[in-house]
Amino acid sequence: MCDEVEDPGRRKLFKALGAATAAGATASLLPGCGKGEKSASKNLTFAEIPHTLDAQHHLPEEYSADLLLRWGDPLVENASSFDPAILTATEQEKRFGYNNDFIAYMPLDEEASPGEGERHCKSRNSERGLLCVNHEYTQPHLMFSGYNDEYSATRGVSAEHVAVEQAACGHAIVEIERTADGWQPVLNSSYNRRITLNTPMNIVGPAAGDSRLKTQADPSGTRVFGTVGNCAGGKTPWGTVLIAEEGFGGAFQGDPDNIADPQESVNHHTFGIAPDNRNWGDHDRRFDIAVEPHEPNRFGWMVEYDPYDPTSTPRKLTSLGRFEHEGFTLVSKPNRPIVAYGGDDDEHQFVYRYVSTGSYQPNDFSHNRELLVDGTLYAGQFNDDGSGRWLPLLFGQGPLTAENGFRNQADVLIDARRAAALLGATPMDRPEDVETNPLNDCTYVMLTKNKKRDSDEIDAANPRSRNATGHVLEIVPPGQFGQRDHSSDTFKWNTFLLGGNPNAENPNERGAYGQRSPGTISPSGWFANPDNVAFDPRGNMWIATDGCEDFGFHDGLWAMATEGELRAAPKHFFGCPQGAEVCGPEFTPDGKTLFVSVQHPADGRGSTFDEPMHRWPDQDPALPPRPSVLAIYRRDGREVGS
Ligand code: FEO
Ligand code: CA
Ligand code: CA
Ligand code: CA
Repeated sequence: MCDEVEDPGRRKLFKALGAATAAGATASLLPGCGKGEKSASKNLTFAEIPHTLDAQHHLPEEYSADLLLRWGDPLVENASSFDPAILTATEQEKRFGYNNDFIAYMPLDEEASPGEGERHCKSRNSERGLLCVNHEYTQPHLMFSGYNDEYSATRGVSAEHVAVEQAACGHAIVEIERTADGWQPVLNSSYNRRITLNTPMNIVGPAAGDSRLKTQADPSGTRVFGTVGNCAGGKTPWGTVLIAEEGFGGAFQGDPDNIADPQESVNHHTFGIAPDNRNWGDHDRRFDIAVEPHEPNRFGWMVEYDPYDPTSTPRKLTSLGRFEHEGFTLVSKPNRPIVAYGGDDDEHQFVYRYVSTGSYQPNDFSHNRELLVDGTLYAGQFNDDGSGRWLPLLFGQGPLTAENGFRNQADVLIDARRAAALLGATPMDRPEDVETNPLNDCTYVMLTKNKKRDSDEIDAANPRSRNATGHVLEIVPPGQFGQRDHSSDTFKWNTFLLGGNPNAENPNERGAYGQRSPGTISPSGWFANPDNVAFDPRGNMWIATDGCEDFGFHDGLWAMATEGELRAAPKHFFGCPQGAEVCGPEFTPDGKTLFVSVQHPADGRGSTFDEPMHRWPDQDPALPPRPSVLAIYRRDGREVGS
């Protein structure tokens, strides 16, 4: 990760906690990843906030939040004030997009040039950087006047509004700085850029140029316009940003049963392409699968781009497979292969790991940029005895042959879901963010929920039928605390926590937090539906949720240690305004600022642009609710959470 290479402060921390031994993992809640003797969460001293549900966001008393970027805020100088009634696609392309999700903070070294991303990252500048933010999807009934409900808006949206939506999706790069008045965007920055559904991109890796990626508009199968469904992502130590393409199927319209090629028909069904999806295909024919049956195959990838070079062309990385990518996060060690972990966020889908063929060479940008192009993708098998195995998705090996309909490695990657299932990977409860704690070198898998899991489908790694509250697994690669071998094909795993109220009557919704007794979880310390996760510089885990309103309170952030006596003891730090989920969480390298995305505020219960549930954050009768990024910090300047 960009800010986690050669960190002298962290080295010191490893030394302090490094006496711990590798856990003897079993499929229980009990053992820790590293059993560090000291608990990082002793430093989580903030006063917890309560569970609430209202039109505000909530923070502990000693904290402030700057409203940094809202949908429609200009990214250029001298722009007019935001007015959604007259918003055009051209104007939206110069403004912050809709439904902000993943956030990468990329430090700026004032002395470095474009192409020197690693130098920028190593500056660890925590006062000035590039905020790189995904814009996952659009909601026309909350963006525009005149739509009575979500259904009529998404099926009947006008051509003009489709163009605005496509310009509001994708990604934003915004230079920001910390001033005496708080965090502010730098509007005259040459780094500021929008990536939209119309940004030209290259397709690279084993599937590039394959016949299944060719369209009438692109007979080469290597050039595609734009990205969509940009949920979470990742960062590389060479200074590039990874953007995931998650729920891309909803952008496409048409009946997969009418597609002549049965392989594509099955493929399109897998990703939820259907006749009554949003009607973009009426106005932009490439989103109609009857016109371009291969266009969906050009989405569902991880995208890499260089935020420090505003002229760089993003690349879709086919080596990381095609599915509903939540994100991919890296474990980077000098002279070792890059290892990346990701999830496919759908019911009964899989956890993946990628290992590069080459090794990471610090300061060698052109070498490192090929590491995510050439490598092997694996799917995870979580055995009931607490052991696990990574299964390689390689054409010609095991069942991945012509007998099962695979022509080549491109087919294996385009149909990664089918390949992983044939290999015997473990179907999971909607894998979201998968990220490694640099303190103990264990990897944490957020499993948000799975209401489709039948009682005869439960296993040790997915232990609840109709899982409504989600859970978190801990992957323990072989090796010592803080120095594990992520490229090993075997691992141990533990259940880190089961989401939910520890006192719930229904055992399928009853939470369990490490080995803690229910009485040690505070009234607002429990949560459900883990989605994104981040680690602060002291190794505390910060979980963002998506779904707590089903249990009567807001989504938000919960922080906890992964080691020591307070392992898996969550403390509630942040609460969203009603209707929103929280995404992103991202720390500056010094841990003193925490950025969060508040996505889809005022969503649900018949809320529309004309009659919204509330109007966070502006609370202005002239403005709709707006997805926004907050910059959170302690007013006394100390580290967040300390
Ligand atoms: Fe877009 Fe998996 O949350
Ligand atoms: Ca997510
Ligand atoms: Ca994350
Ligand atoms: Ca989610």
